[in-house]
Amino acid sequence: MNEERYLTFALAKGRLADKTLELFEQIGIGCQEMKDKKSRRLIFVNEPLKMRFFLAKGPDVPTYVEYGAADIGVVGRDTILEENRNVHEVLDLGFGKCRMCVCGPESAMELLRHRERIRVASKYPNIARDYFHDKKCQTVDIIKLNGSVELGPLVELSDVIVDIVETGSTLQENGLQVLEEICPLSARMIVNPVSMQMEVLRIKALAAQIRSRLEGGEQ
Ligand code: PRP
Repeated sequence: MNEERYLTFALAKGRLADKTLELFEQIGIGCQEMKDKKSRRLIFVNEPLKMRFFLAKGPDVPTYVEYGAADIGVVGRDTILEENRNVHEVLDLGFGKCRMCVCGPESAMELLRHRERIRVASKYPNIARDYFHDKKCQTVDIIKLNGSVELGPLVELSDVIVDIVETGSTLQENGLQVLEEICPLSARMIVNPVSMQMEVLRIKALAAQIRSRLEGGEQ
């Protein structure tokens, strides 16, 4: 183990990063500067612990980790599945819980049941393809969108959507429902495969600290 080397963390911007920093603070890894929303700095350092942190767009986190620009990343399982990068998933952080689902109007249930060639709108084309083509052996046309995916069936762009459902209120308010569940999701800690070997002690110690915190208290 090289004591001088910084352990670099890439955190997915937004709620996941806020929750992660909260969790890290509880185990004595503080990064006060990072909480200053007005700061334009991109990288924050905890000098005594030899740790560096940066915030990145969710889908970029597995990229930074695969290339070793970050040793460790914290990002949603949805992004990990969609990006399909060469990283090790080491820990379920338990927060950011939601589900990846096929959703649509009730009428689309029949189209699914008969494995019709339907249109599927999603921010997650790879997850949608894996699910329909590989798991269900159903040929579908996938349309990539970048947000407000629930619009798809409402304006007849698509028959169904593949999207994240957390509380279900977006679906409910738009007359849509969960038709099939693909998988559960939550925030995960991912590690670069080389870092996993080079920094095994520090990473194992960190994972153990996080695990015991998660088991011991409410998150
Ligand atoms: C996500 C997701 C759903 C919504 C689900 O969207 O894509 O639209 O949250 O949450 P709910 O079940 O609690 O209603 P997000 O807010 O990230 O914005 P986006 O639609 O622009 O992607």
